[in-house]
Amino acid sequence: MIEVKDLTFTYKDEKKPALQNISLTVPDGGFLGVIGPAGAGKTTLIRAVSGMIPHLFPGDFYGSVSVNGLDTFETSLPEISRLVGTVFQDVDSQIISPMVEDELLYGLENFGIPREEIPVRMEEALRKVGIADLRDRTIGSLSGGQRQKVAIASIVALRPQVLLLDEPTGELDPQSSRQVFSLLKELNEEQGTTVIVIEQKIMLLCEFSAQLAVLNQGRIAWQGDTRSVLLHAEELLALGVNCPRVTTLSRILSARLGEEQPVCTRPEEAEAMIRRLIR
Ligand SMILES: Nc1ncnc2c1ncn2[C@@H]1O[C@H](COP(=O)(O)OP(=O)(O)OP(=O)(O)O)[C@@H](O)[C@H]1O
Ligand SMILES: [Mg+2]
Repeated sequence: MIEVKDLTFTYKDEKKPALQNISLTVPDGGFLGVIGPAGAGKTTLIRAVSGMIPHLFPGDFYGSVSVNGLDTFETSLPEISRLVGTVFQDVDSQIISPMVEDELLYGLENFGIPREEIPVRMEEALRKVGIADLRDRTIGSLSGGQRQKVAIASIVALRPQVLLLDEPTGELDPQSSRQVFSLLKELNEEQGTTVIVIEQKIMLLCEFSAQLAVLNQGRIAWQGDTRSVLLHAEELLALGVNCPRVTTLSRILSARLGEEQPVCTRPEEAEAMIRRLIR
């Protein structure tokens, strides 16, 4: 379980806190989507859960963060990294090897994964992310989207109990973005991996995340199960967070009919709702 309790964090030499009085809980095997405008504190939240704050980013830290019972303030970064895998917003700052295969190998060897298991883990991760064909390529020859997939594969290969991803589809086309989210769902459902993902593609977030947290100016504007957060569509829009079109559609239909209809997050649900209404 991830427990953030009343966390306020100000980066060293900054005046304004990047996060202010943040409290949230993600149960084991939970799937939390995080959204919010630029500068809202999304990356800072991921840094806090991964232990990079306070261990790599100094500053004023109040409150507490614990991951599977480990207090991140008191636990060393290598120890936290055994539990928590993080895919950075800037993947180029994450990738350290010149070759794709070496990038995966580096993490697996560092984690002391038994020699015979390494090829199995590597092949599985590359296949799941859909880049088996890139294994022998140099990093320099890859597109931004391909590098993003390498960064994801190198973390997935480590099979962390908690997976944090900071805009993992920023460089990806819609089809690859969906593939990444399907993989997260598979890890979440089949291996019980706890997932926190920051994502701007609201449609994907709403379809795949059980819980949503909306950040704005360092604070949590809304959090809860995805449908209940989407009820605040108009206020979200005022923050620059668009709701999926199906959600807007279900709200409009609901208002026109003067009846409370459930909030739809998937096209199939909206279709079923329209069929019910015109029957
Ligand atoms: N290393 C740092 N040192 C000082 N201030 C920082 C640092 N990183 C972020 N900040 C500040 O903290 C606040 C929150 O930034 P953060 O990067 O967490 O936002 P974000 O929601 O991830 O934004 P984006 O959507 O642009 O990625 C911003 O005011 C930013 O300028
Ligand atoms: Mg960010």
